[in-house]
Amino acid sequence: MLLHVANVLTAEEVARCRQLLDAADWADGRLTAGYQSARAKHNLQLPDDHPAAREIGALILDKLQRHPTFMAGALPRRIFPPLFNRYASGQSFGFHVDNAVRYPRTGDDRNPVRTDLSATLFLCGPEDYDGGELVIEDSFGTHSVKLPAGDLILYPASSLHQVTPVTRGERVASFFWIQSLVRDEGERRLLFDLDISIQSLTQANAEHPALVQLVGVYHNLLRRWSEV
Ligand code: NI
Repeated sequence: MLLHVANVLTAEEVARCRQLLDAADWADGRLTAGYQSARAKHNLQLPDDHPAAREIGALILDKLQRHPTFMAGALPRRIFPPLFNRYASGQSFGFHVDNAVRYPRTGDDRNPVRTDLSATLFLCGPEDYDGGELVIEDSFGTHSVKLPAGDLILYPASSLHQVTPVTRGERVASFFWIQSLVRDEGERRLLFDLDISIQSLTQANAEHPALVQLVGVYHNLLRRWSEV
């Protein structure tokens, strides 16, 4: 499932992040790539321990934990500290699959994170650049993604994906991974669909007695499928 999470950051927050990022010193993106993906990766990346990465990363994590769509879709157990990349004109990242396990190099918790979900948070608008689409292949086909600044796309980390060459302007984004409470993609999808149905029924008739039972089913499935 691809999930578009809108308005993670406000326009003011994006502007503040860009101020910090535009003033920072960036490094070659291949420093953090795996052995195979290093050959496909041509972009710039902010060092993990850069003060701007920490400050913006903390803001993103705080906003995500209060975003109902993100929480319902990801059911996060752990979130990798957000990283940042930029693609200048001519830069791209060819098709690859993200590493299955990531070791945080900052923060108090350096335990490995299993990457169930990948996330890209756009820190520039579609009008700022041409090309630079995030192209994701899943069992339903090929999806091309370019979202407004402040919006996030969530997709299975197991899928093949690429960032096509930027042909004008610059593409700036944050990217990170999520270990979900529910490892299985199909189970996570069912829980999300059930959650959305419950929310819509609640809006239509919050007093309906069957809702209590339905919410119970949701939690009992989550109890059955989650690892904490
Ligand atoms: Ni990737």
